Amino acid sequence: SILIVDFGSQVTQLIARRVREAGVYSEIVPFNAADDAFARMKPRGVILSGSPASVLDEDSPRVPQAIFDSGLPVLGICYGQQVMMHQLGGTVELGDSGEFGRAFIEIDDRCELFNGLWSEGETHQVWMSHGDKVTALAPGFRPVAASAGAPFAVIADDARRYYAMQFHPEVVHTPDGAKLIANFARHVCGLKGDWSMAEFRAAKIAEIREQVGDKRVICGLSGGVDSAVAAVLIHEAIGHQLTCVFVDHGLMRSGEADQVVSLFRGHYNIPLVHVNAETLFLSGLAGVTDPEAKRKFIGKTFIDVFEDEARKIGGAEFLAQGTLYPDVIESVSFTGGPSVTIKSHHNVGGLPERMNMKLVEPLRELFKDEVRALGRELGLPDIFVGRHPFPGPGLAIRIPGEVSKDRCDILRKADAIYLEEIRNAGLYDAIWQAFAVLLPVRSVGVMGDGRTYDNVLALRAVTSVDGMTADAYHFSGEFLSRCATRIINEVKGINRVTYDYTSKPPGTIEWE
Ligand code: XMP
Repeated sequence: SILIVDFGSQVTQLIARRVREAGVYSEIVPFNAADDAFARMKPRGVILSGSPASVLDEDSPRVPQAIFDSGLPVLGICYGQQVMMHQLGGTVELGDSGEFGRAFIEIDDRCELFNGLWSEGETHQVWMSHGDKVTALAPGFRPVAASAGAPFAVIADDARRYYAMQFHPEVVHTPDGAKLIANFARHVCGLKGDWSMAEFRAAKIAEIREQVGDKRVICGLSGGVDSAVAAVLIHEAIGHQLTCVFVDHGLMRSGEADQVVSLFRGHYNIPLVHVNAETLFLSGLAGVTDPEAKRKFIGKTFIDVFEDEARKIGGAEFLAQGTLYPDVIESVSFTGGPSVTIKSHHNVGGLPERMNMKLVEPLRELFKDEVRALGRELGLPDIFVGRHPFPGPGLAIRIPGEVSKDRCDILRKADAIYLEEIRNAGLYDAIWQAFAVLLPVRSVGVMGDGRTYDNVLALRAVTSVDGMTADAYHFSGEFLSRCATRIINEVKGINRVTYDYTSKPPGTIEWE
């Protein structure tokens, strides 16, 4: 395995992801717990992360000496490089300006880290983000790549198998970065690269058992992939110590609530409390048109209902959540300023403190595609695992203006037809998210011999890797007219269909 020492960079989890992609098991530990973890894990190599700190600060974090004494390979990234130099006898100085964003490095010399990847004389794009810089190398090191702003962009000590770089190989803006990390894990550390989701599953199950002991856990299901995967994994670990609560707000898509119930009760035999709270949610939404007000109401009501149920069940010390890594950090952008609230996302955030419960979050280090892989590993049906993301507030934020049972029903029908057409055309998996939006606009039409004055529907489909940015999906005109025709013919209440071509930014994926 590989031990990743976390010095607090926003992108440390990406290092773990890259190591996993190379088929090698890794664990991230905070720098102040690295000593113990190192002794326990007996890793075959260590990666030192970046950090917002400066090694020039007296009390900034350091690498446990045991790591350097062990003779194991070490890869230092950004702050990791600086702290290596600082502790091994080099010099780090305050950068007068710093270097942020895309840069190009020239390869000056070969080293084991570049094995089969980079050769002398080549130029490669990398992503820099640093203030301080190394100005003198520790004994044993030599520069192997340089950029205009960083003469020590990559440094190597092949004898000790120490490597360090000023840039971030873990981010996608360093196109060869994943290969560099794989090279470190496999070629330099000599790890086989045969680790898989099967092992992740086994490791997490052991971890959950240790964390929970013989206590009880409650898990809120949303109908989405994340909470379903978390629940099935936890159930595998602790069986009937887990109770799932499905707060059904009546704002789900067609057939979805039933699917959740039959998957859990039927397929997995996991205890499930199904709370039908449709009336409560819809009556509270009456008269509410402001998007944030809708979100706040739904979020708060969800928590109230969940809390009530948890109290009825009683005796649970732990709350399970399908939190993913992108929920942990809202944004992996490390050049931006403080983030602003675009939309208040509705999850069960705030619940644990209120209910005084401890959290079980087995998916915390995973990205969406990894959760899907884990779901497949756990035998979840494809229809669940491959499902497009669905927002917590559900259809309420796809009905601009006032939400009512009637409008939910109209939208559900139209949305189901649209998704059925997408599946039939074999396009479902090529799209990140596709859905219909019922607009608070009526238009005049003619059907048969009569005049109609009915609702307008917008169709939306986007491609995306993480939901942070997105492009409109380009359907064929023929496909879109087929959807429009079917929806208008089959859904009473809709007489016009439009397609939304907005990308994100400047749009968001959802309309509200
Ligand atoms: P936006 O609309 O902000 O959405 O571009 C980005 C992604 O997040 C989903 N989304 C939510 N997910 N709770 C969630 O769990 C929410 O409140 C929420 N709002 C938006 C959205 O569907 C898209 O995938």
